[in-house]
Amino acid sequence: MNDFNKDLVEIDSGDEPMSNLSDNPHFSTILEKNLSRRQMLTGSLGVAVAGMFGASGLSSIANAAPGLLPPAAGVKPPFALNPALSFTALPVLRSDTATVPDGYKVQTLAPWGTPITGTYPVYKANGSNTGAEQEQQVGSHHDGIHYFPMPSDPNGHGLLCINHEYVDQNIFHQNGATLVNGQRPTDEVRKEIAGHGVSVVEVKKDAVSGEWNVVNGRYNRRVTAETHSDIRGPVRGSDLVKTLYSPNGTTARGTINNCGNGYTPWGTYLTCEENWAGYFVNKTGRPREHSRYGVSTSNGRYRWETAQSQEDQYVRFDASVKGTTAIEDYRNEPNGHGWILEIDPFDPNSTPKKRTALGRFAHEGCVFAAPQLGQPLTFYSGDDSQNEYIYKFVTKARYTKTVKGDILDEGTLYVARFNDDGTGTWLALDYNNLAFQAAAAEAGVIFKDQADVLVNTRLAADVVGATKMDRPEWGAVHPQTREVYFTLTNNGSRNAGNIDAANPRGPNPTGHIIRWREQGNRSWAEKFEWDIFVLAGAENNSQVLPEQGGPALTQDNIFASPDGLWIDQNGILWIQTDMSGSQQASGPFGANAMLAANPVTGEIKRFLVGPNDQETTGVVSTPDGKNLFVNFQHPGDRSGVNSFTSNWPDSGAVYRHPGDASVVSSTSGARPRSSTIVITREDGGIVGL
Ligand code: FEO
Ligand code: CA
Ligand code: CA
Ligand code: CA
Repeated sequence: MNDFNKDLVEIDSGDEPMSNLSDNPHFSTILEKNLSRRQMLTGSLGVAVAGMFGASGLSSIANAAPGLLPPAAGVKPPFALNPALSFTALPVLRSDTATVPDGYKVQTLAPWGTPITGTYPVYKANGSNTGAEQEQQVGSHHDGIHYFPMPSDPNGHGLLCINHEYVDQNIFHQNGATLVNGQRPTDEVRKEIAGHGVSVVEVKKDAVSGEWNVVNGRYNRRVTAETHSDIRGPVRGSDLVKTLYSPNGTTARGTINNCGNGYTPWGTYLTCEENWAGYFVNKTGRPREHSRYGVSTSNGRYRWETAQSQEDQYVRFDASVKGTTAIEDYRNEPNGHGWILEIDPFDPNSTPKKRTALGRFAHEGCVFAAPQLGQPLTFYSGDDSQNEYIYKFVTKARYTKTVKGDILDEGTLYVARFNDDGTGTWLALDYNNLAFQAAAAEAGVIFKDQADVLVNTRLAADVVGATKMDRPEWGAVHPQTREVYFTLTNNGSRNAGNIDAANPRGPNPTGHIIRWREQGNRSWAEKFEWDIFVLAGAENNSQVLPEQGGPALTQDNIFASPDGLWIDQNGILWIQTDMSGSQQASGPFGANAMLAANPVTGEIKRFLVGPNDQETTGVVSTPDGKNLFVNFQHPGDRSGVNSFTSNWPDSGAVYRHPGDASVVSSTSGARPRSSTIVITREDGGIVGL
């Protein structure tokens, strides 16, 4: 590793920096006041309370929960609400390949570098593809994913939308990244920009072999960190997004650090801009809309702003004040990032839209509650940094079967307060809301208009006293009951002095999953009840459904750092882990994995373990539940230049079963590639059941 790469790795390790310096309380300060329904325990597991399903013990939950709620309107059976997880749980293990239970098989699909458009440039195994070639290939570091079925063959033909979070320069370039007299070679920058973003890939299952293949079809598309996007919603036209490129503040370029995802009931893809702030630099004094998000004062994460050609599309990553007014420079360029971007996968010529009403933060996932005709539509999204918040957006317009994306441009953004008594409140971040105005006045914070509130979403949430969480990652909404689950991946800055009932362990290196039910089962309600689904960790520091006195995790299911989350058509809660390299290498948990959980009983079983140094992230299936698409991101995450800690998948060992004689070691020398995998059952059945 040369010094430049070492420097980048150090920056990289600050991916989820803590930039919440507000004195908005960790709710430990209100613990003593507000224990009417719950009681704190002093043990390492924190709380034990009467949970939202009642206090009569784990077994009663299995009986009680399914009957409590009617199905959401428009949601059709079949549902295995109490899904039997019939596979044999995988043990803790490490192997440079995918491991799945007996009876399952795995193939790769659309790994980094797969040609999908233009001249279909082939992937070069030595990393020597150019920037222009990368623009026509699947990007790097697969993350969120969704499958849009083709109506004519929904379970065998569709469009995959795949997020590409970032690039690992040691793997991405033939000889790592270079810096010449303080400047990046332009084509390296061009290639890295093209490695980011989203791929839309048409995929089809071969009727004979059962293998999925990429189709070189007209829907295939790359959206990258350079793609022109429209700014929609309240921030459109605001002074805060006017730049040299967009003097009227209506457009932005590119989508960066696309981590979790979502989709909409009208068939579009939502990609979430997470750790975008670190890609920018501001050397002339950061306004609050830069500092509260962690825009750098020294250099961008990959120094794109230094590209040798100094063309406009690279210079814009330097947000320093250079001109007389904002339309003469890129001081506002970072304000065009941190949004939910909507992409119509079925219209490859459509302009992606930044839906600013949903707020600006380090978005990680964006999931909707099952729509109800004639009612507002609700989307949930977490802000993945230490001590940041969970948000929801409720549309102003009512849902009908003909609504489209513009319904996302008007509505109310809320942030969550988790009270220690098991209740919760959604606090409006609305310039015209009297309570919000009063809170801002009390805090001495001035917002000019709703665009100002949204560009400064984190500050607005500080002002109203939202609950600081242990890094909110993905959410999942049960398609039938509308209960909402959220992963809280871990929090190195939580400590015994600032725990609260919703974040009950300090420090919290292993994370937990919280869930809630909106008052009256109405997703737009301003009150909710919550409990903890699982405190992750080793056998001696974990518990399922702690508020009902559930069991500790075992060798069948210990895990840490839950991240990706999805509830499938049959009510299986899929949990994906993103442990750090060292936690994977030496911890009790083995490699990053995906587990299946029954939300009713709390049963959890390890289903999939990935190759060396990857994280398992993004999961979706075909509508029949028989083809599960999952992403392995950054296999070989701790590689040096031409010294790789994983060789998956080009090593040839795509997957194995736990009983196979030996683990696979990384010795083939092949360059590791992030990839989607497809998991199917050998008997053609539904995955997981
Ligand atoms: Fe990109 Fe929050 O992990
Ligand atoms: Ca994540
Ligand atoms: Ca993560
Ligand atoms: Ca990650």
